[in-house]
Formats: sequence, C-alpha cells, structure tokens
Amino acid sequence: MNDPSASCFRLDDRVALVTGATRGIGAAIARELAFAGARVVLTGRDDARAANAAAALSAEGVHAIGMGYDARLPGEAERLADRVQTELGRLDVLVNNAAVLRPHVIAKLKEEEFDELFQVNVKSALFLTKALRPLLEASAHGVVLNITAAGAQAPMAGIGAYCASKAALVNLTRTLAKEWTPLGIRVNALTPGSTATDMILPVDPEKRARFVAEMASQNPMNRIAEPVEIARAARFLVSDAASYVTGHVLVVDGGLLA
Ligand SMILES: NC(=O)c1ccc[n+]([C@@H]2O[C@H](COP(=O)([O-])OP(=O)(O)OC[C@H]3O[C@@H](n4cnc5c(N)ncnc54)[C@H](OP(=O)(O)O)[C@@H]3O)[C@@H](O)[C@H]2O)c1
Repeated sequence: MNDPSASCFRLDDRVALVTGATRGIGAAIARELAFAGARVVLTGRDDARAANAAAALSAEGVHAIGMGYDARLPGEAERLADRVQTELGRLDVLVNNAAVLRPHVIAKLKEEEFDELFQVNVKSALFLTKALRPLLEASAHGVVLNITAAGAQAPMAGIGAYCASKAALVNLTRTLAKEWTPLGIRVNALTPGSTATDMILPVDPEKRARFVAEMASQNPMNRIAEPVEIARAARFLVSDAASYVTGHVLVVDGGLLA
C-alpha cells in the first residue's frame, strides 16, 4: 500500500545548508536532511573541519559538501552566500544551527564573551539569512529554521547571556516569518532541550554521568535527548509536511517546559 503522505517528508532535488554541522545537533540534522534526499552543505569553523564532516557523511552514500564559515568574522555570511550561489546556484533550506555557549553568572560575564555570543548566535545567523534571501526566494520550497534553546523561554542562572541570545533569535524568527512568508519563505524555530553533545557534556566521565542525571531529572521523560531526536523534528519543519507551519517555535524538550 502506498502511503500518500510519505513523499511530503522527502527533500529530493533540494539543496540544504546547515551551519555548525561538524558535530552534535547540526551534524545530526545534516545527516537527516541528506538521507531525506537533499544535497547538503555542512559548515564548520574552517574549510578543513567542514570538509571532514562532509566526507564522513558522503561515505554513507549521500550528497554532502563542506564549506568553512566562522560566524565570528565580519563578512563571512556574504562570503558563504556567494560561494553557495557560485558552486550550487540554488538553496531551498537554511538551518541556522551554529552557536556557542559561554557559561557564566552575569556578575562574571565579560563584555567580549557577551559580544561573541550575540555575534555567533544572533547577528551572524540573521545576516547569513539575509544574504541567502535571493536564493531562498527563488526556491519553490524556501525555508529557514533557527535552532534556539529552552533557555529562551525559561532563563537559567549561569547561562543568562546565552539564553538572551536565543530569546533574540526566537523574536527575529517571528518577525522574519511575518516579513518573508508572503515571499514564499517559511521561517520557524526549533527549541531543543538538553541534548547529548559537546556543548553541554563534561569531558570527565564521572562529572558527565552526574551532569546527565541532573539534566535528566529536570524533565518528565527523565533523560536527555539524542541529537537524532532533534534532527527528525528539524526534518519535519523544513519539509513540505510542514507546508502550513511558519512563525512557529517547536519545542522538543522531553517536557522540560511543560
Ligand atoms: N546540546 C544542547 O543541550 C542544546 C540545547 C538547546 C539548544 N542547543 C542548540 O543546538 C545547536 C547545536 O548545539 P550542539 O549542542 O550541537 O553544539 P556543539 O556540539 O557545541 O556544536 C556546535 C557547532 O557549531 C559550530 N561553531 C562553533 N563556533 C562557531 C563559529 N564561531 N562559527 C561557525 N560555527 C561555529 C561548531 O563547529 P566546529 O566543529 O568547527 O567548532 C559545531 O559544528 C546550537 O544552536 C545550540 O545552542 C543545544
């Protein structure tokens, strides 16, 4: 029996770009979109990191290309957009995933850390999105997905500036949805809860086990997410299965914010 909705979740013939796709949630999203049929551009902080991540994915038999993109540097968004235009000539899906976390209570937060958080997590994502607008507008399936964090809705002591940067990204997502949906570009946000990646997990195994147990105890599922669980929600939002979804913030947090 043919499932009439199955094709809505496919991304064949589309080009997707995922920032910060060398590891963690970004790598899982890139893999998910590539297996859905998209040609995927993976970015990392430099060409070599991005090329390694793309080669690992290509080895699985899907189409992946690596491009360096350091969100701290001025002009990078425009340079990356030019490269996508020149080398691929189209873009259907943009996932703004790259981010940094600088854990500090506000009393100890340095100005340069605040600037870096807002540069990488907000400004660069916004200006990359702007630079890619002509390609997204030319697509019949243009879609932007911004990866935010539960802290945008429920600020957490010790990571206040990071939470504020994600709150700004949520707000910009909703404005962009109002301005760009009439152009044929859907714009949404995806809010993961605690997820097993380098960003949050301590390297020391004992500290890691304690940290995971503590994070898990904060949600009713009593566990943290695996990156693929976030990636599957991302696939839904960027696919035609979500054709009437725009300006939405989808929370995938095991019930943390319930
Ligand atoms: N993990 C969680 O619990 C959690 C929870 C809520 C939201 N999130 C959000 O989910 C997204 C992915 O997080 P993650 O946990 O997968 O993080 P991660 O494991 O730390 O990976 C971060 C990614 O961002 C890239 N990146 C870092 N600095 C960059 C810069 N200056 N310019 C360009 N790229 C840069 C890294 O590239 P390199 O490899 O080149 O450094 C890497 O690919 C982020 O937006 C994060 O805020 C995560």
